[in-house]
Parts: sequence; C-alpha cells; structure tokens
Amino acid sequence: MRIAVCLTDNNPAPWVQGLQAALPDAEVFVWEPGAPQADHAVVWAPPQNFIDEQAAGLKAMFNIGAGVDAILARRLPPGLKVVRLDDAGMSVQMAEYVCHALIRHLREFDVYEAEARQGRWVFRKPLERSDFPVGILGLGVLGERVARAVQQFDFPVLGWSRTPKAIDGVRSFAGEARLGDFLVNTRVLVNLLPLTDATRGILNKTTLGALKPGGYLIHIARGGHLVEEDLIALIDSGRLTGATLDVFQQEPLPAEHPFWRHPKISVTPHASARTLRRESIAQIAGKIRALQRGEPIAGVVNLERGY
Ligand SMILES: NC(=O)c1ccc[n+]([C@@H]2O[C@H](COP(=O)([O-])OP(=O)(O)OC[C@H]3O[C@@H](n4cnc5c(N)ncnc54)[C@H](OP(=O)(O)O)[C@@H]3O)[C@@H](O)[C@H]2O)c1
Repeated sequence: MRIAVCLTDNNPAPWVQGLQAALPDAEVFVWEPGAPQADHAVVWAPPQNFIDEQAAGLKAMFNIGAGVDAILARRLPPGLKVVRLDDAGMSVQMAEYVCHALIRHLREFDVYEAEARQGRWVFRKPLERSDFPVGILGLGVLGERVARAVQQFDFPVLGWSRTPKAIDGVRSFAGEARLGDFLVNTRVLVNLLPLTDATRGILNKTTLGALKPGGYLIHIARGGHLVEEDLIALIDSGRLTGATLDVFQQEPLPAEHPFWRHPKISVTPHASARTLRRESIAQIAGKIRALQRGEPIAGVVNLERGY
C-alpha cells in the first residue's frame, strides 16, 4: 500500500515518519509531481496538479483538518472519497478558546487588565450572565462540544444548524428560515460553520446587526464567513461591543489591517484549534486499516453539501 503526503504550509517529514510508524507495511512518501499512484493520500490544501495526478486513483484522501474548503475549491474527480479529521483533539481546544473569550468579555477582564497596568484597584459591577445568551452557528463536532462547555458556566445557549438537534439545554434552530429568530435571541455569536457556498459571507451587516443590543462576535471558523468592513462599521457605530477573531479573509493578517490595533477587537493567528499530529495520525491510520478491512469510516465529506 502506498500513502502520499501532500501538505501545503506544513513540514511533511514528521507526518511521513508518524504514518510510517503507525502503518509499517505501507510505503509512505512525500508527493512530488510524477510520483507513482498512491492508494491513500494525507493532504492539506493540495495543489490542483496533485489532484489531477493522484485523486482519481485514490481509495481515500485524508485532510489533516476539520474544514475541507481548500480541497473543495479544486476541480475534483467524481466519486472521490474525502475524509475530514473528526475532532482528534480539536474540540476541547475550541471549547477552551470560546469559554476564554466569552468569560473575558462577561467579566470584563480586559478592563481589569488595563486598570491593573495603571496600578488601580477598581471594581466593575457584576453583569448578569442570563443577559448574555450565546448563539452557536454550526452544531457539528466542534459546535456541540462548545455548546456543552459554555453551558457549564450557566449561560443560555442556542444553536443553529441545517438540521434540527436535540442537545440537552440547547435551543435548536434549523435552516435558513430560522436564522433570523436565532440571531435576535443571541447576544454573543460564535461561528463554527464550515465554509461553503451557502455560508460564505454569512457574517455581515444584516446578520450581525440583528443580534441583541450589546452583541459580541467570536469568529473561529473561516475568514470567508465574515464581511470584515461590516464588522468594523458595526463596532465603531456602537451596534456591536467587540469581537474575538481567529480567522481572516487574508492569512497571515496583513500588518496594516485595522483589526490588529482596534481597541475592541482581539486577534489570534488561526490558533483556536491546532491540528494535533499524534492524535491525527492515529485517527487516519485507524481509518486506513478500517477501509482495508472493508469497514465503513466516519468523517467522509459529502461533496454536494460541501462539508
Ligand atoms: N480556526 C480553526 O483553527 C479551526 C479548526 C478546526 C475547524 N475549523 C472550522 O470549523 C468548522 C466546523 O467544524 P466541525 O468539525 O464542527 O464541522 P461539522 O461537524 O461538519 O459541523 C458543521 C455544522 O454546521 C452546520 N451547517 C453547515 N452548513 C450549514 C448551513 N448552510 N446552514 C446551517 N447550518 C449549517 C451543520 O449542520 P447539520 O449538522 O445539520 O449538517 C453542522 O451542525 C470547519 O468546517 C472549519 O472551517 C476552524
């Protein structure tokens, strides 16, 4: 069995080493143009020439992330089996990130930090967490884990997805027709949608402007979801109180981008949930073995739906 590794912006060597150790009978190699046909591929944002040479002959193509938008942006052969990472240590990181941003906002820790730097001992009036309903766009692998984590801190939680969900204590809203209802009942909006034709630009002046007064955005899915100038206008007009952003239209975020220095915006460099190599290799190797035994695997992407 041959496994090709094709990782844009990632060092492939430790992946090759780890996959080789997990699957000793396989021949694992870094793909180069003209390489022999592989049975499986492990990829991140593969170039079109990789797809053109390899994809039609693959049993499966494993993405080393949860979001497959960079693959689906390519021309793909019909019937290609694209497999996403299923959690693999990412959901707990997303839960940490969202709870941190949410609690920092509710408890005004940014204000305390600024006061402390001035040597000032000043209390803030406690805010009511019941006034901060948290709405999560996307209740998949990551969104559901985040919903459960946020609930632990007694915030009201709502979620929006394509199909209805039954998660204890989470008000479920499903489908485009319920988006408006979901937004007007949300104060802190968390985005965990996949980037598809249906969700590109979904965070814009209309949707963000529909949030409850004092709205706040935690955006950790993909840069293409957010109309960035709409967010700045809404914050500067006082319609929104601020945002924590991990993903951007252009990454790395350009040095001159206003997000870096905006006093009400916190920026992290696409770091909310990093791919963990050891967990990911174990998961991919397990799925390759399952496919060899003819068993079904989880995480196969629906190419029509786009996630
Ligand atoms: N910033 C980072 O470091 C980072 C790391 C990992 C992932 N991500 C992003 O997070 C995204 C979510 O990951 P995941 O593993 O939770 O994905 P997932 O399991 O595929 O879940 C996606 C959720 O979005 C919902 N959804 C999709 N299209 C929709 C639409 N048009 N309308 C309403 N709901 C829609 C789905 O609804 P149904 O359940 O009804 O199908 C599902 O609940 C990834 O696609 C990726 O872009 C970012």
